[in-house]
Amino acid sequence: MGELVFIGLGLFDEKDITLKGLEAARDADAVFAEFYTSSLRGTTVETLELLIRKPIRVLTRKELEQGTEILEAARDRRVALLVPGDPMAATTHVDLRLRAHTAGIPTRIVHGPSIVSAAAGLLGLQSYKFGRTTTVPFTTNEFRPTSPLEVIGENRERGLHTLVLLDLTEGGEFLDPREAMRYLLETARERGSDALTQETVVCIVSQVGSSDPKAISGRLHDLLRRDVGRPLHCIVVPGELHFMERDALIKLAGAPKDL
Ligand SMILES: C[S@@+](CC[C@H](N)C(=O)[O-])C[C@H]1O[C@@H](n2cnc3c(N)ncnc32)[C@H](O)[C@@H]1O
Repeated sequence: MGELVFIGLGLFDEKDITLKGLEAARDADAVFAEFYTSSLRGTTVETLELLIRKPIRVLTRKELEQGTEILEAARDRRVALLVPGDPMAATTHVDLRLRAHTAGIPTRIVHGPSIVSAAAGLLGLQSYKFGRTTTVPFTTNEFRPTSPLEVIGENRERGLHTLVLLDLTEGGEFLDPREAMRYLLETARERGSDALTQETVVCIVSQVGSSDPKAISGRLHDLLRRDVGRPLHCIVVPGELHFMERDALIKLAGAPKDL
């Protein structure tokens, strides 16, 4: 009887996998991984292979979405799929899980630390005050979605914070948070929206999960000129702040005192 286990790798390096995840990966007959939904900046596939004591077959987005190879392998063997962060957070891997389920292959998830909770925690914001998450993609002249700005606007209207994830490519490019903020400002100007202005206080976190994560907060025009540290990054647009959240943003992320 086969099995497909989704294992979270966590946020930064090979030490972020849980002991349960490590055990499940070591117990697997075949280990696959994907790094197109996110990236572990503090380690390499070779280091993970040494830790797991098994070769890892890294799948491209196309190969994973097709699913043929991994589902075939899981039909009669224990297969592990390593995924950065928590496997089902801000990914579409539930599709693969459902296809395995339909094929009669049992599935399991071993959760990992995720940017979805870590960004809030690092900034001292309360996770239950977040609204919908959004992602800013790499844009072109033809592809300029307004949905990220709309999500921020809807959340702010309801007094909620927004986690803004940033696109990455399989070739290893990461959208710079300043580029994403410029794009959001342009979209706001084009649509006459006040969901985001030069004066809006926003936060950027980077290298979360490393020994030196950065959390900075300031007015948008100020952050556009600041050093934002190395990838990975994401942005948080705060909504209404509890006094303790305000205190945390000022003390832990350098937000303006008149916030
Ligand atoms: C599509 S999400 C996938 C999230 C992942 N499944 C998780 O649970 O953490 C990937 C995006 O989250 C953000 N991100 C992920 N890990 C991060 C980290 N360690 N530090 C800062 N941002 C991170 C980046 O914007 C990245 O492009």
